[in-house]
Amino acid sequence: MLTRALDVVLLGPPGAGKGTQAKRIAAAFEVLHLSTGDLLRDEVARGSDMGKASEAFMKRGELVPDELVGKMLFARLHSQSAAAGCTYDGYPRNTEQAILLDGLLAELNRRVDVALYLNVPDADLLARLAGRRSCAACGAVFHVVTTPPKVEGVCDACGAALVQRPDDEEGVIRERLRVYHAQTAPLLKFYADRGALREVDGVGTLDEVFGRVREAMRSKRR
Ligand code: AP5
Ligand code: MG
Repeated sequence: MLTRALDVVLLGPPGAGKGTQAKRIAAAFEVLHLSTGDLLRDEVARGSDMGKASEAFMKRGELVPDELVGKMLFARLHSQSAAAGCTYDGYPRNTEQAILLDGLLAELNRRVDVALYLNVPDADLLARLAGRRSCAACGAVFHVVTTPPKVEGVCDACGAALVQRPDDEEGVIRERLRVYHAQTAPLLKFYADRGALREVDGVGTLDEVFGRVREAMRSKRR
């Protein structure tokens, strides 16, 4: 059966739960989870040219240049795995990226169906990020207080060691927040003007937030 692709942008500050909710959206709606942060961290781990060009920006909590991230996005969007749609986690990060995404989707006769803004107060974000632990092998994400693994430091899903992201250090978190407010927050108006923005309260259990995400997606633009 042929159905139209579904393209969902996730907006929100560092630690808002974009990755956590994007995984659930991807599973429930059978779309590709496209996280530019995860893709960039993978490039850094592999020591590729893209990784070498991106690493210093990421360590400082700054945005990687648009053209580098745009190339990566273009390749993924044109892959078969993205044909049913995507949930964009960490993209776009500024107006230029949002315009590029609109253009790439238009070439595929698609558009951003809904932009979900996960609203979490800045005061909660530091604790979320300082306690985050991720599995370098399978990408599962935990939190030492709210969603701890069964065995400390070990991934429940695959048994590999859990690590802390190098940019989850307090000084870098503050810079990421500054960059978010200066460059990414203006996208709330960008998508509101197109009738695509839906605000979701990002405070609550993971299930509560996902319930609100589902509800917000019911009213996506057609
Ligand atoms: P990126 O990886 O996108 O990082 P970010 O935007 O800073 O967001 P995070 O991944 O830190 O947070 P999240 O919202 O995904 O939260 P999560 O679900 O993990 O980008 C990293 C860097 O890459 C950037 O700084 C930049 O350098 C570069 N980059 C990436 N994309 C780029 C682009 N498009 N252009 C240019 N540069 C780019 O949750 C956080 C923690 O909270 C976890 O421990 C989780 O378990 C916990 N948690 C989640 N939900 C809840 C809840 N409801 N209650 C309590 N705890 C919760
Ligand atoms: Mg993330």
